[in-house]
Amino acid sequence: MAEKKRVGILISGRGSNLQALLDAAAKPDYPAQIVRVISNVPGVLGLERAQKAGIPTAVISHKDYADRENFERAVNKQLEADGVEIVCLAGFMRVLTEYFVTCWNGRLLNIHPSLLPLFKGLHTHERAIGEGVRFAGCTVHFVVPEMDSGPIIVQAAVPVLPDDTPDLLAARVLEQEHVAYPLALALVCEGKTRIEKGLVRITDANWPKTGQISPLP
Ligand code: GRF
Repeated sequence: MAEKKRVGILISGRGSNLQALLDAAAKPDYPAQIVRVISNVPGVLGLERAQKAGIPTAVISHKDYADRENFERAVNKQLEADGVEIVCLAGFMRVLTEYFVTCWNGRLLNIHPSLLPLFKGLHTHERAIGEGVRFAGCTVHFVVPEMDSGPIIVQAAVPVLPDDTPDLLAARVLEQEHVAYPLALALVCEGKTRIEKGLVRITDANWPKTGQISPLP
């Protein structure tokens, strides 16, 4: 197997997606190793999860910096010190500047709890129910300066049921997030994604069998 890619994960909270990535990376044949978890918020559950998995953590609070870019420079310094090659945002609740996004162009992933380009921003499940859509889901995408945009790597859809509340729908989508994110990161780490004209092309013979079934197996 090719050498595992060194991955850094940025979080702000509970870290259930982080946990999914930690669990995937614990498998010997997974193509990524998580070398650092950074939270901009101290004391969050995600930090505990990382520590339990034996992954080095750091808290870099945005409150300690005069502006976004200086905060991001501090994050970058840590990531560079760890030799990070790919960065995953996993419930990281800070808007990133063009500076950071450009630094990690094509190597920065995010997960968003909607079928983008629908429902960018917050309160996605409430809005999906409010619009009466029949399917909701999640998207893993490369990050570009515009929020919740950028080339889509993996999506998974789930039904919206008649009596759904935002919490019920969120839980159904979250289950799929935990499958989609490890799958997308593996594709990127194995060099099976190529961005062409702003879209991701997947170069994996098994892809139609594994990636386009929704919900994901
Ligand atoms: C997830 O729903 C993710 O899609 C969104 O923020 C939430 C983070 O949850 N970006 P967790 O911290 O991974 O549990």
